[in-house]
Amino acid sequence: MTVRVGILGCGNIGSYIASALGDRQDIRVCALFDKEVERAQALCQRITPTPKVVAGVEGFVGCCDLVVEAAAPDAVESLIKKTLGYCDLIILSVGGLIREGTLDFAEKTAKECKTKLYVPSGAITGLDVIKASAKKGLRKVKLTTTKNPRSLLDVSYLKEKNIDLNSLSAPLIVFKGTAKDAVEFFPKNINVAAALSLCGVGVEETRVEIVADPGITTNSHEVEVEGVFGKMYVKLENLPSPENPKTSYLAALSVLRQIEEYVGGVKIGT
Ligand SMILES: NC(=O)c1ccc[n+]([C@@H]2O[C@H](COP(=O)([O-])OP(=O)(O)OC[C@H]3O[C@@H](n4cnc5c(N)ncnc54)[C@H](O)[C@@H]3O)[C@@H](O)[C@H]2O)c1
Repeated sequence: MTVRVGILGCGNIGSYIASALGDRQDIRVCALFDKEVERAQALCQRITPTPKVVAGVEGFVGCCDLVVEAAAPDAVESLIKKTLGYCDLIILSVGGLIREGTLDFAEKTAKECKTKLYVPSGAITGLDVIKASAKKGLRKVKLTTTKNPRSLLDVSYLKEKNIDLNSLSAPLIVFKGTAKDAVEFFPKNINVAAALSLCGVGVEETRVEIVADPGITTNSHEVEVEGVFGKMYVKLENLPSPENPKTSYLAALSVLRQIEEYVGGVKIGT
């Protein structure tokens, strides 16, 4: 059986996924959507057999078994509302799932319609430990994300705080607070905080620090967790994607693996 895949968001990750799936016989990329239609059209030219470019997320219904979202948190709610009743979803812009009512609606729809919503680990690690132990008790979940200031230049929150990223000569903590605020103020940069929160103690209890460090070229994520299972400290140093310094290469690889497991039917790891 060939799995028919739709892709929402034809930027860095969406394009990588579409091209990587092109070599497989058991998967066919059959529909693309991007709010910038020329991006979807350009990607369409690079895939064989040629997928169709749809005019909105409704266009995925009826022609896709699985839709992969690689767009933006504000695209998530409408995608879930309009398509989860008909096909399975992989959501990468996890920040979109913490908006009031969105996850509850998704759970209800998936149950009623026998569809599934998957959230890959993306650019973070340690979700397995947090997931497995959350219900038995976690005392602390803290994320420290360190990025080159170049990745944060267009963040309005930092402009409003008059933080001049161009003049930094040493690491600076630019945010300290809850995952809820981190996702709101850094919507394009900190989906990992949303993923940690959803697996663990929620957006109000998960603590986040964001550091701008002009001396690094990686996106690093340090996760500290304490709970009934014991303690965990992990540090992941992600290389940025060559085409988009805001996102990590691992995120695209993680989605690809999730699609492979979806098609293969076997999932290793919690
Ligand atoms: N979960 C994670 O660990 C993780 C890691 C990296 C990236 N991400 C997220 O994945 C998403 C894609 O990342 P990317 O590097 O490919 O970004 P990108 O900017 O390269 O591409 C995003 C594409 O989506 C399109 N788009 C944006 N909003 C849209 C909307 N509402 N409807 C339709 N199209 C829309 C844009 O025009 C663009 O072509 C982003 O939201 C990013 O924050 C998550």
